Amino acid sequence: MLLPLALSFCALAAASPLVQKYRPLVLWHGLGDSHSSPGMLEFASLIGEMYPGIFIHSIYIEQDADADRKATFYGNVNSQVDMVNEQLNDIPELKDGFDAIGFSQGGQFLRAYVERYNDPPLHNLITFGSQHMGVSEVSECRRYDFLCQIARRAVKNGVYSKWAQGNLVQAQYFRDPSNLETFLEANHFLTSINNEVAPIDGRNETYARNLASLEHLVLVLFTKDVTVIPKESAWFGSAAEPDESDDSLTVMQEKILGSTTSGEETTIIPMRRQPLYLEDWIGLRTLDEQGRVILETCEGEHMQIGDCWKPLVKKFVGSPA
Ligand SMILES: *[C@@H]1O[C@H](CO)[C@@H](O)[C@H](O)[C@H]1NC(C)=O
Repeated sequence: MLLPLALSFCALAAASPLVQKYRPLVLWHGLGDSHSSPGMLEFASLIGEMYPGIFIHSIYIEQDADADRKATFYGNVNSQVDMVNEQLNDIPELKDGFDAIGFSQGGQFLRAYVERYNDPPLHNLITFGSQHMGVSEVSECRRYDFLCQIARRAVKNGVYSKWAQGNLVQAQYFRDPSNLETFLEANHFLTSINNEVAPIDGRNETYARNLASLEHLVLVLFTKDVTVIPKESAWFGSAAEPDESDDSLTVMQEKILGSTTSGEETTIIPMRRQPLYLEDWIGLRTLDEQGRVILETCEGEHMQIGDCWKPLVKKFVGSPA
């Protein structure tokens, strides 16, 4: 008696237009975190409360949580993004496309997925405190986080060495504006996704076409972020080359044209003044000119996310599937 009833209920539910089906969501955690940490599980469950029944996938490099956390420090980012592409392709729920949220470095890694693969396609990408223009310093570690401390020391020992660039995650988005030449030669991840090195046959147009196909790119900057240096990297800002910021005329122009100053000395080149943007190497300008790049802030230090995510998730996640 019960069984047929249950079956007919299922059939009814599937056929009913009243049952809301949401576009699936993919999450990519940050440095020192794992796909199944308490924080990530809680975040996923809060989104599940907002959109009952929404399908959520939390990206992993390793299924074991400790190994996954380790892979946020050690590994080859290009290979990790390749692997994630395969992982996403194996999930039937995602086959018609999805939205995604990237925390910290997970944000630029998701952008790499969009630019290189985007099949299945991403609709809205939200990145929180990500390092889209890299970092010019390696951030401090928590006191007893030895995994972090060892990785940090290794990065500081030779960030542009072949080994570091192939094996230390943070080194692969380290971009020192006072030594761009070495960065452009040594780096094979950030230079690539920012289309900053033009290969002989030009910049990769697939990257620009794919990024420009997003519905929205939502870039969230933490106002008191001292972990990401400079914090404006979350908005595609970067520190000016030292000779530029020493030139007072340039500094004046930067100020007039709307640059912000971070700390005492550093002049920040904002997104809309980056060559990457001006020449539209990655489709960012195309997106922005259509009003589809959303610059948002959260008050506080890096990843002090509080309730700041709620209006963004309300607006950019949970579209009808
Ligand atoms: C551009 O990127 C796509 C996607 O990663 C790749 O398949 C293609 O070979 C690249 N093209 C060039 C000219 O490097």
